[in-house]
Amino acid sequence: MAGAIRIHETGGPEVLHFEQVEVGAPGPGQVRLRQTAVGLNYIDIYYRTGLYPPPSLPFIPGMEAAGVVEAVGPEVSDLAVGQRVAYAAGPLGAYAEVRLMPADRLVPLPDNISDDTAAAMMLKGLTAQYLLRRTFKVQAGQTILFHAAAGGVGLIACQWAKHLGATVIGTVGSDAKAELAKAHGCSHTIRYDQEDVAARVRELTGGQGVPVVYDSVGQATFEASLDSLAPLGMLVCFGQSSGPIAPINTGILAQKGSLFLTRPTLMTYTAARSDLLAMAAELFEVVARGAVKIEINQRFALRDAALAHRALAGRQTTGSSLLVV
Ligand SMILES: NC(=O)c1ccc[n+]([C@@H]2O[C@H](COP(=O)([O-])OP(=O)(O)OC[C@H]3O[C@@H](n4cnc5c(N)ncnc54)[C@H](OP(=O)(O)O)[C@@H]3O)[C@@H](O)[C@H]2O)c1
Repeated sequence: MAGAIRIHETGGPEVLHFEQVEVGAPGPGQVRLRQTAVGLNYIDIYYRTGLYPPPSLPFIPGMEAAGVVEAVGPEVSDLAVGQRVAYAAGPLGAYAEVRLMPADRLVPLPDNISDDTAAAMMLKGLTAQYLLRRTFKVQAGQTILFHAAAGGVGLIACQWAKHLGATVIGTVGSDAKAELAKAHGCSHTIRYDQEDVAARVRELTGGQGVPVVYDSVGQATFEASLDSLAPLGMLVCFGQSSGPIAPINTGILAQKGSLFLTRPTLMTYTAARSDLLAMAAELFEVVARGAVKIEINQRFALRDAALAHRALAGRQTTGSSLLVV
């Protein structure tokens, strides 16, 4: 038996229950992982509330963790007992002391990446990788807009974009978050709760607008994001922390300058194992050389997952948060 957070019905943070669960032996293609640190992500909230339907009930939430291989099932040739690994993008079940994992979703950890750092950055950092390097390839000299710049994905992505030579405009919900974002890659910050975002972006770009907006806030920022783009610009909607975006009339993309709109997910971008490993290698490299610092600004005991969810949904966190096993 092992401790885990289980959800029997979707709802508020109170549905997160710490229970003892049976883990069992790994089947073909699986390993059993003793987890050392679990990453907290906004997607965990979407599953908890039912915005994203869970595959079954009850279920163990969570998509990201680091740990040590404890047992290896049949047909697993490239992982050994005692090996340190991490994963992002599921399958669900990370909020647990011990779990079974498909071996082909695990990334071996180099010695210079600690378990805590891995659990704090795999999902958020691989997301930053594909957003900046694949969805829209950010080039040196460009100015970009990144919403929720002081958040988990935000702090990593803004540092990485600066490292690529971009000028980053970040939106934030408080002055303290503005300071933090400026210390992590942002040249300019906008208080989106107080200022007209599109007008400020025009001001900062000499009236031109930006070639790309990365928007994980969704409902509250969608219009301003479109209005911040230069002609032929791309809006990358990759989350909805303020709520889902209403159905749109695609004619609006024509009216606002032949814009591109995409709604990417990490699952698609890491579906091929070769992509997962190549993306992780790039992430490990920028972290190892110090270009991207992983800030773990909150730690909660696994059994206190409800507190962690309240803090994340209540906009009280910055950078990455860990559930300590
Ligand atoms: N598509 C993908 O592949 C993918 C992968 C990873 C994450 N994501 C998305 O990226 C976003 C960031 O994830 P994260 O785990 O790093 O979370 P996070 O950014 O650390 O937390 C969310 C932040 O969003 C901002 N926000 C704005 N309006 C909000 C509202 N009404 N309620 C709550 N927060 C609000 C808050 O920052 P301020 O106080 O500064 O406004 C808050 O701190 C989420 O939307 C997530 O779903 C998508």
